[in-house]
Amino acid sequence: MTTINQSFKPRTGGPASPSRPFNVAMIGLGFGSEFIPIYQEHPLGNVAAICRRNESELHKVGDEFGIEKRYTTYEQVLEDPSIDFVHINSPIPDHAWMSVKALEAGKHVMCTVPMATTLDDCRKVVEKVADTGLKYMMAETVVYSREFLFIKDMYERGELGDIQHLAASHPQDMDGWPDYWQKMIPMHYATHVVSPCLGLVNGLAEYVSCFGSGRVREDIAKKSGNPFAVQSCHIKIKDTELTAHIWRFLYDVARQYRESFDVYGTKKSFEWTLIENEPHVIHTAKKPEHEIAQKIEVPDFAHLLPEPIRKFTLPQEIHDTEHLSFIQGGGHGGSHPHLVNEFLTALAEDRDPWPNAVTSANWTCVGICAHESAMQGGKIVHLPDFTLGR
Ligand SMILES: NC(=O)c1ccc[n+]([C@@H]2O[C@H](COP(=O)([O-])OP(=O)(O)OC[C@H]3O[C@@H](n4cnc5c(N)ncnc54)[C@H](O)[C@@H]3O)[C@@H](O)[C@H]2O)c1
Repeated sequence: MTTINQSFKPRTGGPASPSRPFNVAMIGLGFGSEFIPIYQEHPLGNVAAICRRNESELHKVGDEFGIEKRYTTYEQVLEDPSIDFVHINSPIPDHAWMSVKALEAGKHVMCTVPMATTLDDCRKVVEKVADTGLKYMMAETVVYSREFLFIKDMYERGELGDIQHLAASHPQDMDGWPDYWQKMIPMHYATHVVSPCLGLVNGLAEYVSCFGSGRVREDIAKKSGNPFAVQSCHIKIKDTELTAHIWRFLYDVARQYRESFDVYGTKKSFEWTLIENEPHVIHTAKKPEHEIAQKIEVPDFAHLLPEPIRKFTLPQEIHDTEHLSFIQGGGHGGSHPHLVNEFLTALAEDRDPWPNAVTSANWTCVGICAHESAMQGGKIVHLPDFTLGR
C-alpha cells in the first residue's frame, strides 16, 4: 500500500480493462445521485444497486436511471455478493461506520468527505483498509476541480517556481441546510481547504495551530460544542519549509459561499476570485507593477477522461440543479467525472487511488486536530502517526 508521498497522476483515457465492469452500489441519493449517470457511462463502471431509506424517493431515482436493484437498508447492500464497491454519500455521522462495515464485508469503498469526525474513527478506517487490502478513496472534489488541475499543471511545468505559501478558505452559510449541519464544527468539514494545500505539494500535515474568532449563536454553539464563528488554522507541512493557512465558518458570518485556493510561488502566484464566477488572477513576478496581476480563464481538463464521460465536467450535465450542493457548489469545478475515473482505474490497475486511506485520514484529521487546538487557545497539536503512514 502506498502511504506517504502519494502522488497525483492524472489518467489519460485508456485504463487497463478488467473482464467486466465494476459493480457499484450508490448509498445516499441526494448529492450521491449526481454520480449515477457518470458511472453508467464509464467503460469500467456499472451501477448495480442504489440504497436510501425513503422508499418512494428510492424508486424515483431507480426509475429515472433504470436501476433495478433497490435497497432500503445498508445491510442488504453488504449482503449482495455482486457488489464490488460502495460509494457512500450518506450524512457525515454515517461515513465512518459505513466505511468500516463495507470493508468488513469485502467491498472497496469510495466515500464522500470527510472520512470521519473523530481521530479514532479515522484510525479504524485506516486499519481496516490495511487489514483487508481493499481500496479506500475519499471523494474530495477540490483536488479534481479544473482550478486545482490547472494549478497543479502549472506547478509541475515549473511555471510557479518554488512554492512559498498556500492558503484556502471555505466560508459557507449553512442556514437552510439539513439540521445535522448545526451539530458540525467548521473544522470537522475542512477537507476542501486542507486537500488543495497539501495535495499540490504532495505533502502531509505534521502539526497545526488554530484560533477561534467571534461567537456563533447560542443554540448552534450548544448543539455543535463549538463557540467560535470562524476557525483559522496554520498547518505545518511535514518535511518541507511550508506552512499553509486555512479558514472556515458555517454560521453567523456575512459572506458569499466560496471554496478558494491561493498559491504563492517565486515566479507566479494564483489567487482565487473574491466573487463567484468572476475570473481568477495570476500574478507574475518582476513585471511592471500594473502588469503583475492578470485575470485568467481556467481551462477544462476533460481531455484527461475517457471520452464517454468527458461531458460531465460541464455544469449543464448535472441533473439536479436544485440540490443545494449545486446551487452553492456550482458543480464542484467539473470534478465528479474525475473522481469516478480515478477510483475505477485504481481498481482496474490494482493500485491505490488518490487520495488513499492514509492521505484521506491526514487531510481529515487536520480539521479534527485544528478544533482541538482552537479549544486550547491555539496550542500546537500534532497529527497522529497513523495519518503519516507510520
Ligand atoms: N463537495 C463535496 O464533496 C460534497 C458536496 C455535497 C455533499 N457532500 C457530502 O455528501 C453527503 C450527502 O449530502 P447531501 O447534501 O446529499 O445530504 P442529504 O441529507 O440530502 O442526503 C443524504 C442521503 O443519504 C441517505 N441515507 C441516510 N442514512 C442512510 C442509511 N443509513 N442508509 C442508506 N441511506 C441513507 C438519505 O436517504 C439521503 O438520500 C454528505 O456527507 C456531504 O458531506 C459532499
